[in-house]
Amino acid sequence: MLDIKITKAETLKEKPTDESKLGFGRIFTDHMFLMDYDRSYGGTGWHNPRIEPYHPFSIAPGCVVLHYAQEVFEGMKAYRTADNKIQLFRPECNARRYQDSCDRLCIPQIPEEDFVQAVKALVELEKDWVPHTEGATLYIRPFTFATMEQLGVHASTSYTFCIILSPSGAYYATGLAPVRIYVEDEYIRAAPGLTGFAKCGGNYAASIKSGEIAEALGYSQVLWLDGVEHKYVEEVGSMNIFFKIDGKIYTAACTGTVLPGVTRRSIIELCKDWGYEVIEGKLSIDDVMKAGHDGKLEEVFGSGTAAVVSPVKELKYEKDVVLIGDGKIGELTQKLYDTMTGIQWGRIKDTKNWIVPVCQG
Ligand code: COI
Repeated sequence: MLDIKITKAETLKEKPTDESKLGFGRIFTDHMFLMDYDRSYGGTGWHNPRIEPYHPFSIAPGCVVLHYAQEVFEGMKAYRTADNKIQLFRPECNARRYQDSCDRLCIPQIPEEDFVQAVKALVELEKDWVPHTEGATLYIRPFTFATMEQLGVHASTSYTFCIILSPSGAYYATGLAPVRIYVEDEYIRAAPGLTGFAKCGGNYAASIKSGEIAEALGYSQVLWLDGVEHKYVEEVGSMNIFFKIDGKIYTAACTGTVLPGVTRRSIIELCKDWGYEVIEGKLSIDDVMKAGHDGKLEEVFGSGTAAVVSPVKELKYEKDVVLIGDGKIGELTQKLYDTMTGIQWGRIKDTKNWIVPVCQG
C-alpha cells in the first residue's frame, strides 16, 4: 500500500466547456502522480509516491530515455456514469501488462496493487475533470522512463513513474465513422523476440513513418503484417484488429509480436459468449483480400482503449483495394461498440466484474 503525499495546485486550470471539441490527448489536468526509483534505495527501490501540480520535468540531457528509449506506458480511461459514479475498466489487466512491458525493457516493476492505487488516487483527486458527455472520458496515461545520466547502453539504475490525465473525445476525428486502412508491405512493427508485445514508446516511434505514408495517401492507419514473411495480419497502428469472414471471427494470436489488448480480450470474451467461433491465429493478407473479393469479408474492426471499437471500411494492399460491407458500420461491430461502452458507462449490467469503482463524481 502506497503512502501517497498530496500537494494541491494553488490555482486550477479552466476546464473545457465544449466537450465535443476535446480531441484526443491534448489537454492535461491540474495534477500528476509521481514516484521515484533508485536501485540503491532499498526495498523495491520505489519511493516517494506523491501527487503534485502538473508541471514539466527537469531531466539531464544525458539521461538514458533520451538516447535509448528505455520507457514503457499504459493507456486507460475513467468514465462518468449517468448516476455520477467515476469508474475504471479492468485496471488490473493494465497493471499486469505494465509488469510485462517493464520486464521486457529491464525497467523495475511496480506491484499491481500499487499501480491501481496510484491511478485511483489521481483520478479521485481529478474527478471534476472526468467529462460528462457520453463518448468522452478522462484518458489515463501511466508511464515510466529511465533517468540515469549514462551514454553506455545499459539499464538505468534510476527511473520516474508518472501518471497524467487528459480529458479526451474519440481517438479518430471521424468518431465512429468507418476508417480506411493501408496495409504496410515494406516496413514492419515487430518480429519474434523483439518488443511487439510490450507497450513501449519505441514501438510507436518506429511506426510513425508508415503512418505518415498512409496518411498522405488518405488512409487513417497502417495494418502491420508479420515481420518474418510479410504475410500474416497482426495489428493496426493503435489498435488490435478483427476480421469477420463467413461468420467466424479472426484475430492475430498474442505470441509475442502483437500487443495483448485489454479491449481485444474483452471482445473475444463477448464474441464467445454470443456463440461466435473466435480464431486466434495466423490469417494471411491474401486470404483477407480474397474473402473481400468473394463477398465473404463481412466486417473488419479495430479495438483499443483509445479507439474502443473502430469499424474499417476499406483495406488497400499493394495495388488491390477491398471495400468492406457497404462502407457502413457492421452489425457485430455496432453491437460490440454498444456493449463495451454500455458496460463502461454503466448502462449495461456488469455481469463480468470488469468495472472497478473509484468514487462518487
Ligand atoms: C490506447 O489505446 O490507450 C493506446 O495506448 C494507443 C495509443 C498509442 C493512442
